[in-house]
Parts: sequence; C-alpha cells; structure tokens
Amino acid sequence: MKYIIGKPVPSEIEIIQSILKPYVDDGVILERSREDIENNINKFFIAKIKNNIAGVISYYNYSDKLIEIRSLAVKKEYFKKGIGAALVKAAVEILLNNYNNVKIFALTYHPDFFKKCGFVEVLKDTLPEKIWKDCRNCAHQFECGETSLIYSKQ
Ligand SMILES: CC(C)(COP(=O)(O)OP(=O)(O)OC[C@H]1O[C@@H](n2cnc3c(N)ncnc32)[C@H](O)[C@@H]1OP(=O)(O)O)[C@@H](O)C(=O)NCCC(=O)NCCS
Repeated sequence: MKYIIGKPVPSEIEIIQSILKPYVDDGVILERSREDIENNINKFFIAKIKNNIAGVISYYNYSDKLIEIRSLAVKKEYFKKGIGAALVKAAVEILLNNYNNVKIFALTYHPDFFKKCGFVEVLKDTLPEKIWKDCRNCAHQFECGETSLIYSKQ
C-alpha cells in the first residue's frame, strides 16, 4: 500500500483528533486538545494514502536533550502495513538531524513494535522529567503497564 509521510496543515487538526480518539478512549494515548495540536503542529507528521490521513505521530521536547515520541496512532484498517514504523522513522530522523546527543524515548503498551523501530527498553526512573510531569495526574500511576524505551541507533 502506497503512503506518503508529510506535515499536516491546520485544516487537518480535526481529522488528527479523530484518528487519536479511539486510542484516547481506550486510555493508551493522552488526549490532545485542538489548541494543543494547533500550537504544536510543527511537531506532527502524518501518513497519507491518496488524500486520506491513515496515521499520525508527534513529539514533545522536555529539553533539547530529552524528547518523547507521543500521539502515535494508525487507523485500525491500516495496521501492519508499515505506516507506524514509517512515522517513527520520520520523527526520529528529524530529531537526530536537529538535536545533538538527544535521548528520544517512548512510553508504550506496544514495546515490541518500538523495538522493531530501533528502540531498547530502559528503567522508567531513568526518565524523571516525564514521570513528574504527566504520570502524577494519571489514574494508573501506581500500576502503570507501560514500558519505557529509548532510541538506540544513534
Ligand atoms: C502501535 C501502532 C502504531 C503500530 O502501527 P502499524 O502501522 O500497525 O505498525 P507497522 O506495520 O509499521 O509495524 C512495524 C513492525 O512492528 C510490528 N508490530 C506492529 N504492531 C505491533 C504490536 N502491537 N506489537 C508488536 N509488534 C507490532 C509489525 O508486525 C512490523 O513488524 P515487521 O517489521 O517484522 O513486519 C498501531 O498498532 C497503533 O496505532 N496502535 C494504537 C495506538 C498506540 O498504541 N500507539 C502507541 C502509543 S505509544
């Protein structure tokens, strides 16, 4: 299946939200408000099949040295076609080109997917900023099933 990775435009924000929504509802992705996406649109990539958005990814800078891959979602009907991996690759390439010695990490319920994208598992307490910022408001903070991984091929 032919897809193109690119940058979204503001008119695509609602479609991005609709792609994230089922996974937000399932509790595997944090909700992103329209304003949040709008303010960070330069940190999003989309995968398009013909003119339809099939997947999305974003990143969040804790600093120039610590960046999280987040809001990664592929529409269910397009699973297992390489789109998720292509989105991760696009984001990682940009980050490695733009930031020296950056640690790129992900917190996920799908560690094996990220391992296929060049990430390795690490202990969560090696990522203190993340834990103190988002986890303290999460209902699952004391029984978190997410795995922490960092990109390891730089
Ligand atoms: C995780 C997700 C992004 C994967 O997207 P995808 O487009 O189906 O993944 P790809 O087709 O690019 O898969 C790349 C490789 O990972 C494997 N893979 C895909 N999903 C996997 C999973 N859930 N667990 C383990 N391996 C997985 C694929 O089989 C493929 O392996 P291969 O290279 O040996 O063929 C997608 O399942 C998704 O959107 N899930 C819901 C939202 C979510 O959990 N996002 C991650 C939050 S951090």
